[in-house]
Amino acid sequence: MAARRRAIDLVLPHLRVLDGYEAVDPPEVLAERAGIPVSEIVKLDANENPYGPSRRVAEALASLGDVHLYPDPAQAAMRAAIGRYVGLAPEHVVVGNGSDEIIDLLFRAVLAPGDAVVNSVPTFGMYEFTAQVCGARIVEVARDRAFAVDIDGVLAAASEQHAKIIAIASPNNPSGNPTSLADVERLLGSDCLVIVDEAYAEFGGSSAAALVPERPSLVVLRSMSKWAGLAGLRVGYGLMDAELAEVLMRAKPPYNVNQAAEAALLASLADADALQKRVRQIVAERARMHGLLDAIPGVTPLPSEANFILCRLPEGRGKDVHERLAGRGVFVRYYARGVLADYLRISVGMPADTDRLIAALAEALSEH
Ligand SMILES: Cc1ncc(COP(=O)(O)O)c(C=O)c1O
Repeated sequence: MAARRRAIDLVLPHLRVLDGYEAVDPPEVLAERAGIPVSEIVKLDANENPYGPSRRVAEALASLGDVHLYPDPAQAAMRAAIGRYVGLAPEHVVVGNGSDEIIDLLFRAVLAPGDAVVNSVPTFGMYEFTAQVCGARIVEVARDRAFAVDIDGVLAAASEQHAKIIAIASPNNPSGNPTSLADVERLLGSDCLVIVDEAYAEFGGSSAAALVPERPSLVVLRSMSKWAGLAGLRVGYGLMDAELAEVLMRAKPPYNVNQAAEAALLASLADADALQKRVRQIVAERARMHGLLDAIPGVTPLPSEANFILCRLPEGRGKDVHERLAGRGVFVRYYARGVLADYLRISVGMPADTDRLIAALAEALSEH
């Protein structure tokens, strides 16, 4: 008997019209677009770690044993190792398939369709995307001209809209500036779950992680993608109230972090000192890149505590400079919409990448 209804007819209306997350393309696709070999492209568009993972990750992956068995759904070894790394009890830790998955789990745990999330824009796109997937409302509160969070505006919007979640990236992607602990404390005075997304914390100076045990409405997100160079293996974590963590542990897909990601996380944390050394190299290169960008007439790099720099270009040049850079095999991030139309976000790569970028940028700007 022929089915009367197609599966697509059963899909929730708000998902049928979902735009989808605008993710970055892999190197092969970029190289083909630029018409040059992959080895010649400069990929500074996704805040990836140019040094790659710890040497110990390759060893751990090569000696992975029982991959015919499921990974530990209780994440015992990872939660203990992360707890030691951040200085919290393992009960506060939940590990995800990237910190993206922790955002997904939190939003699904808290939001019913129609509930509000306050988003301090411009910021990382995942909060808006995940709210849309949940059928929730996004309430945007603009950051100020220096991209600092408008704390009064966020608190007012949260209260007026009876919001359930406030999401703050600190340091913010794409602007690179952190939100102070004093401002985080003020946000914790709201009735919302306050997510402080610290995906780039290792490149900056401060963290709200130590507040977690005494602040049950706070969740701090961390990622292994950036400082530890594990973006391709997908592993990140949330630090939160133990009762909330317990709920997420029960509500998550049971085997959400695969054995390769687990082994890579454990090997990375065991080699944290070597990884921190590379973080310091990236931070030094960030300072050098900032100086070189600043020396190009018409380019204004913002201060950054992350592994990227947001740069303002002469008015109206964002899109065409982005394209001209891509034509030269240099890929950076451009946001076509709104207040970022004149900006490029440039990840910090190797010194040679910076040199290629600076030469290409100076050329691109001189053409019109
Ligand atoms: C602010 C912020 N949070 C989270 C993520 C996602 O990290 P993960 O790779 O751990 O999912 C990113 C990635 O770009 C980010 O910029």
